[in-house]
Amino acid sequence: MNENIFKALVVSENDDQTFTRKVADRFLEDLPEGEVLIRVHYSSLNYKDGLSSIGNRGVTRNYPHTPGIDASGEVAESSDSKFMPGDRVLVTGYDLGMNTSGGFGQYIRVPADWVVPLPEGLSLKESMIFGTAGFTAALSVNALQNHGITPEQGEIVVTGSTGGVGSISVLLLSNLGYDVVASTGKSSETDFLKGLGAKEIIARDVVNDESKKPLLKQRWAAGIDTVGDTTLATLLKSTKQRGAVATTGNVASANLPITVYPFILRGVSLLGIDSGQTPMNLRCQIWNKLASEWKFPQFKKLSTDCDLDNLEPEIEKIIAGHQRGRVVVNLQ
Ligand SMILES: NC(=O)c1ccc[n+]([C@@H]2O[C@H](COP(=O)([O-])OP(=O)(O)OC[C@H]3O[C@@H](n4cnc5c(N)ncnc54)[C@H](OP(=O)(O)O)[C@@H]3O)[C@@H](O)[C@H]2O)c1
Repeated sequence: MNENIFKALVVSENDDQTFTRKVADRFLEDLPEGEVLIRVHYSSLNYKDGLSSIGNRGVTRNYPHTPGIDASGEVAESSDSKFMPGDRVLVTGYDLGMNTSGGFGQYIRVPADWVVPLPEGLSLKESMIFGTAGFTAALSVNALQNHGITPEQGEIVVTGSTGGVGSISVLLLSNLGYDVVASTGKSSETDFLKGLGAKEIIARDVVNDESKKPLLKQRWAAGIDTVGDTTLATLLKSTKQRGAVATTGNVASANLPITVYPFILRGVSLLGIDSGQTPMNLRCQIWNKLASEWKFPQFKKLSTDCDLDNLEPEIEKIIAGHQRGRVVVNLQ
């Protein structure tokens, strides 16, 4: 057997501009340059991977391509003295899985600056149950705390709450003592969200005001939004004086139809979350929290397991907005 061959999901562009996904053999020498070669044990599925898998040029410019913005595994080779073969590490974000061959392959080669030593207290698999989604949820909660939002101030709303970022946000906030109101399009998932600690479940429409009113009745102390557009605008317009909303995503759209009034009349803050480019010191702090005081036991119930051969239906589900929790991909 040629040891330079490994298995990966390969997305290819067809002559008619459609895209095909298949599991194929790839060669180590075709991986990009970088100081650290990692034998991937686990990856996870994020919304961005869905976009890369269907040919979204905003995520991935050139095909054929192997998606996967997350990976955890063991260092196979390193030309950087910070890492040794056998070290257990994880990589999330930066350019991984976008225009750099990603975690849906058994090997990745990346710059040493992208590599996080696996924090003590997390297994390689557990780190991918969190993955980018959990890391982003934790960054969002951290940002709200740094803004001074405390449980006594009132309810926190989370949108897209059955998805990856949403479900882990619900879990973290409720375990930290906040009253969480979970907004979802999936009325069948009430028990799932209650199990994560949500105090109340509301339908998506409740936080999607299309009236164009500049301000709405104040309800939320804070929010975490994954949806964008009129949903994010609704949250901002209905956040209480000096509250804050962390914006993480744009599953509805990247638009934000709003006036300045929530900001200049109520002192509401919009907190931007950019997990991909998080500086290494904050990155390690947040991963260490997820490995210790924020490692609440229910997080293990969030994940579905799959391997490369049965990833396809999971990709279709995440693109359709039908995923629940997290999908961990086993590449061993
Ligand atoms: N800023 C960052 O660093 C960062 C990091 C990670 C993810 N993101 C972004 O955050 C978003 C969520 O990512 P994810 O990985 O958590 O995705 P996900 O697991 O697919 O979750 C998205 C959830 O949003 C809801 N949703 C889907 N389509 C919707 C629509 N048209 N209108 C309203 N709600 C809809 C669904 O939940 P319900 O059915 O419960 O409503 C869905 O499960 C994406 O836009 C992603 O790109 C950003």
